[in-house]
Amino acid sequence: MRIEELEKEIHLCKRCGLYKNRKNAVPGEGNIFSRIILIGEAPGYHEDLQGRPFVGAAGKFLDELLRIVGIKRENVYITNVVKCRPPNNREPTDQEIKLCSKFLEKQITLIKPKLIITLGNVAKNYIFKKFKLKNEPISKIHGKVYKVVSIDSVITIIPMYHPAAGLYDPKRKDVILKDWLNVRDIIKSIIEENV
Ligand code: URA
Repeated sequence: MRIEELEKEIHLCKRCGLYKNRKNAVPGEGNIFSRIILIGEAPGYHEDLQGRPFVGAAGKFLDELLRIVGIKRENVYITNVVKCRPPNNREPTDQEIKLCSKFLEKQITLIKPKLIITLGNVAKNYIFKKFKLKNEPISKIHGKVYKVVSIDSVITIIPMYHPAAGLYDPKRKDVILKDWLNVRDIIKSIIEENV
């Protein structure tokens, strides 16, 4: 399946109730050949309006982080665990995550990531379970670098705080920035391997 077909399927999806209130589904965007995938939780208000991931306030901070560490949005693929906005930005339920997961699974199969960066708890919990990593609170493992072997390739997994966590807390913002700066060389080396 090609990414365009998958995106079309996501736009038409009615697997869970979230389709009823959506303006747009948000499949994800970016470079599917980059071997780097950033995974957030679910679209918010602005993402739902525009059909694009991370375009609201948290997205602006993510853009700033990417710029500071010298990465372009076009260098990575950005998506979410859940592709439609939950009402009032509540956390997606386990059932919504389960029903939507086939799309993220297909994206991972298509992209064959060498690096997965999770943004926030929902994505961390999903990816840690998928790769059988010991799950711990994000406050303990943010910015840590994990390696897993999948089929015959090594995947690096880095759980990051959700960018929204830094919006109203300057101390947390500094921690997030430091985490990204610490892994800048890992991210850049994977981008360079694939140009
Ligand atoms: N928060 C997310 O987790 N994803 C988005 O796309 C926007 C905000």
